Amino acid sequence: MLLSPFKLERYFAKYEFNAEFLLCSSDCESMSVADLLAIEDGAAERFQNHWLGYTESQGSPTLRKEISKIYSAVKPDDVLVFSGANEAIYLFMLAALKENDHIIVHAPHYQALSEVAKGIGCQISPWRAREENGWALDMDELRHLMRPSTKAIVVNLPHNPTGYLMPRADFDALNEFVKENNLLLFSDEVYRESEYDVKDRLPAAVDYGPHAVSLGVTSKTYGLAGLRIGWIATKNRELFNKIASLKDYTTICNSAPSEFLAEVAMRHRAKLASRNLEIIKNNLIIVDDLFTRYSSLFTWTRPKAGSMGFPKLLQGEVESFCDDLVRKSGVLLLPGSVYDDARNHFRLGLGRKNLPQAVELLLQYLSKERYWM
Ligand SMILES: Cc1ncc(COP(=O)(O)O)c(C=O)c1O
Repeated sequence: MLLSPFKLERYFAKYEFNAEFLLCSSDCESMSVADLLAIEDGAAERFQNHWLGYTESQGSPTLRKEISKIYSAVKPDDVLVFSGANEAIYLFMLAALKENDHIIVHAPHYQALSEVAKGIGCQISPWRAREENGWALDMDELRHLMRPSTKAIVVNLPHNPTGYLMPRADFDALNEFVKENNLLLFSDEVYRESEYDVKDRLPAAVDYGPHAVSLGVTSKTYGLAGLRIGWIATKNRELFNKIASLKDYTTICNSAPSEFLAEVAMRHRAKLASRNLEIIKNNLIIVDDLFTRYSSLFTWTRPKAGSMGFPKLLQGEVESFCDDLVRKSGVLLLPGSVYDDARNHFRLGLGRKNLPQAVELLLQYLSKERYWM
């Protein structure tokens, strides 16, 4: 299989650990092992005594039990744990697709959601989020993208990079459509539980039936990317077994310390999510003010969930803007070109505590470089 370079990861490889301020991170503020363990009485001591042998390939039963509580009708045996969400995407694609299959993918998107399928030899149709409609997806457009060889639809809600969240009626209709057409729905829900208004939260796709696979991870809403623990939940037993047996060729099983810590985190996930949501909401006040002041330099569609937005630069070219900004101010933004976006957008991260300082430096840069307000 031929996989093209992962543009976003290559961009981060250049800057992530030497730029002073990451103003484009997709994950929320993290914490130390000690702080996580302090959430639960006795957890620190149990962690010291945790066994470091191989773990169960499917994921530890107690971790799967905690994860299953995120969903309405999911049993621990419907959950398969991986080393991050990215491994789950890779193995889902390998298990579900073959050469010349066609898939429809929510676009713009996290590159892995189409790249692995491309590597397998599948045809990919982007289902485009429309900025003029608040980054919405159009169900009529989806119908037109269908082909006899269509096997799966891939969506990411809440959406990286726009923060779009589909209305409930559309998500119901999408699930019906997938069922009626005998397709699979791969629903990347790694930003779920970070909705700014809980009433907007969509049900997980897995709870609609066996046509669906829900993807989750500890990295984003819960701020624990370094654990590298992700999972899928599905009622599709045949697909589940296929993916599980492919995992024997990647990581076999997960890191034992990470599984322990992920289980503690999932038991207290409401607390972790609300801590990060508070950071996001405070940051949104600052960011809204920035975009109001610089309304002739940027457009801003306010996200409904998640830890990022996708504003557009209206003067100049976004790649050189980002490059100049990081060199002169140490503030990293992510140009939309890493998502194959050709319309001058960039990704702005909302989940980090130091956003106020980063925005201050951005404002100083804009004024020094004489950008118009
Ligand atoms: C939409 C989406 N899916 C999956 C992933 C992969 O998550 P992880 O890096 O924790 O494996 C990411 C990470 O940025 C993402 O944004």
